[in-house]
Amino acid sequence: MTADPIAALTLAEQASLTSGATAWTTGAVRDVVRAVRVADGPHGIRRPEDDSISFAAGSLPATCFPPAVTLGASWDPELAHRVGAALAREASAQGVDVILGPGVNIKRNPLCGRNFEYFSEDPHVSGIMGAALVNGIQSLGIGACVKHFAANNQETDRMRVSADVDEQTLREIYLPAFEHVVREAKPYTLMCSYNRVNGVYASQHHWLLTRVLREEWGFDGLVMSDWTAVNDRVAALAAGLDLEMPPTGSDEQIVAAVEDGALEAAQVATAARRVLRLRELVDHAERFEDWDQDAHHELAREAARSGAVLLKNDGGLLPVDPGGRQRVAVIGEFARTPRYQGQGSSRVVPTRLDNALDALRDAAGPDLAVTFAPGFTLDGAPNAQDGQDPAGARAADLLAEAVAAASGAEVALLFLGLPDTAETEGLDRSDIQLPGNQLRVLEAVRAVCPRVAVVLANGALVSVAEWQDQADAVLEAWLGGQAGGTAVVDLLYGRANPSGRLTETIPLRLQDVPSHLYFPGRDGHVVHGEGRYVGYRHYDTLDRPVAYPFGHGLSYTTFEYGDLTVEQTGQNTWTVAATVTNTGDRHGHEVVQLYVAFGEPHPTRPRHELRGFARLGLEPGESGEVRFELTGRDLAWWSTSRGGWRVDPGTFTVEIGASSRDIRLRTQLTTPGDSHIDELTAMSTFGEWLDHPVGGHVLGTWLMDLFATSGQGSEAGALLEDPLMLNAARQVPLAKFPTFGLGVTTEDIGNLVRAAQSSAAQ
Ligand code: BGC
Repeated sequence: MTADPIAALTLAEQASLTSGATAWTTGAVRDVVRAVRVADGPHGIRRPEDDSISFAAGSLPATCFPPAVTLGASWDPELAHRVGAALAREASAQGVDVILGPGVNIKRNPLCGRNFEYFSEDPHVSGIMGAALVNGIQSLGIGACVKHFAANNQETDRMRVSADVDEQTLREIYLPAFEHVVREAKPYTLMCSYNRVNGVYASQHHWLLTRVLREEWGFDGLVMSDWTAVNDRVAALAAGLDLEMPPTGSDEQIVAAVEDGALEAAQVATAARRVLRLRELVDHAERFEDWDQDAHHELAREAARSGAVLLKNDGGLLPVDPGGRQRVAVIGEFARTPRYQGQGSSRVVPTRLDNALDALRDAAGPDLAVTFAPGFTLDGAPNAQDGQDPAGARAADLLAEAVAAASGAEVALLFLGLPDTAETEGLDRSDIQLPGNQLRVLEAVRAVCPRVAVVLANGALVSVAEWQDQADAVLEAWLGGQAGGTAVVDLLYGRANPSGRLTETIPLRLQDVPSHLYFPGRDGHVVHGEGRYVGYRHYDTLDRPVAYPFGHGLSYTTFEYGDLTVEQTGQNTWTVAATVTNTGDRHGHEVVQLYVAFGEPHPTRPRHELRGFARLGLEPGESGEVRFELTGRDLAWWSTSRGGWRVDPGTFTVEIGASSRDIRLRTQLTTPGDSHIDELTAMSTFGEWLDHPVGGHVLGTWLMDLFATSGQGSEAGALLEDPLMLNAARQVPLAKFPTFGLGVTTEDIGNLVRAAQSSAAQ
């Protein structure tokens, strides 16, 4: 074998490697390259029983872990790492080499049908959790595939729509999670998205796939297409896409393009080499015959528990009396028919499935029967008032049963949520409401039962504002995976303490969502008009009311924060530390959040942005320290004109809190900035010249000379002495001054530019 096995292949053989062999395998060539098997992802292995591409085809049973919405809300990278390793073990046991996940797209709008597969509205959370999952998967040598790159934030028209996003927004919101995963976790593969980004298909986007991904971030893995995302194979290969999935049988196009000179042979060889390298990487994976199904089920249960968010708990209604002395009514079809994962390519056939009703019956005391009433059907049956038709009559019966069950109870646990049909890959939702038939049940139960707790099952957020006054407690359990039923009961009965935190703001109304006016676009384009102001960056900057802020989540215990310190450790590096104490009477986890606030008078930047978080488990009375490292990048903004990150000199506020709206401690740090000095030109404004460290001096000296020569009473003198005129003149590029008859010539301006440039060079 030669040193470069790919060089020994014919062009046609190399071309064949740049497309799959089946929907789930890469190609094999002679004894040089063997096939790699991929499978969805992200929260469980979906290995189809045959090689069919259809979602409807059966797949082998695998542990259904909670989807990213829930895992993300744990804010627990260590847990994500363990889930990743478990996924890898199952992949290995099923002969799968690469898991198609995680997805780190930003939740731009709650209507996105695939929000359940994504972590957060915030890139920091998405990047940290995504990297942890990748590291976990790859710790066993199985490959991960971070997806969908990039700006894939909706399902409407997903295969064509152009996400029209300015570069600063891309750099600060939509790319950093990918960047973090690529830099920190080095995923073996990455999947491009279907959509266009500023008019160019992601699969053919040279700037994204080569300039940014490889040249800036140093990605050295393989880029594959989303399934059928390639529209022009030659353009895709030239842009940096290595592998088309699934195959379209068009390898001869690649060969012809090389022969015609439209594509360089080296580009084909490079892509083929990356397929070979992927094979070599996964050759080192640990191989397992099977996995411990009980242990993985328990891990899924832990993840579901850790991600559930206690939104409210008036009067300490939860946990339900653990001695089992309370008469509990369980109401809602979701208690016995769990909604535990989303629809689409990520749908896993679970190895088993817990439901909350059985777990509640186990948890209740031996002398007390848990009464159950389904309350509503999951098929969107009409409200009980419309009782004339048979479906309406059935709804009325269900409602009456629920009222009867609740009447005799001290506590009603109401399991509400979105039916399976309400959210899926491939479709966006049209509203964020819970179904009306469920709200009717809540209202009726509330009228007869003094204490009501609602447990929610949904993948994308639902509005709570219209109904939450009717509930004392609300536990947002998201989609809990196959052990979600028991996990929820662990929390309701206080066997575990809620510790999930919102990774997305719950708005009061859909209309409050910053992208509302633009989503999902029309005519082939979705304009990102809200720019960087996604989620809390919008609500907090404009001080808009929300139902629950980003980062919020209650516990059965309480925490106190103190001892905030900031220590400068280098020119633009700091260590921030704080102490958290569990002041309640039971063990609990706190998620301590660090935001950096920018002290500018105009909101040209979000009011504050999350730059760190730490999850801390504490016994009653115990204190623990959290530490964060900050760098210049944490203070930086993307300057499109400079084509890079920029740190302004000045003072920033470091905020430590329990949510974006519950800041407990504040301190300041000062940075000298990044020492960048802008280059001045004739088109730089008078103000830019005056404020410039070099130009200000050059211009000042020259102005004094001018003033001395032309003297008071001249037009130049009048300008310099009139504060209003002087201020207005700050906006005018220097090149315009010769036209104003001030005695300034074009030659003078040229001399100034040369003088400033030579002073700056010294
Ligand atoms: C999805 C991907 C998935 C692929 C393979 C596509 O429709 O967007 O996330 O990995 O199918 O099933």
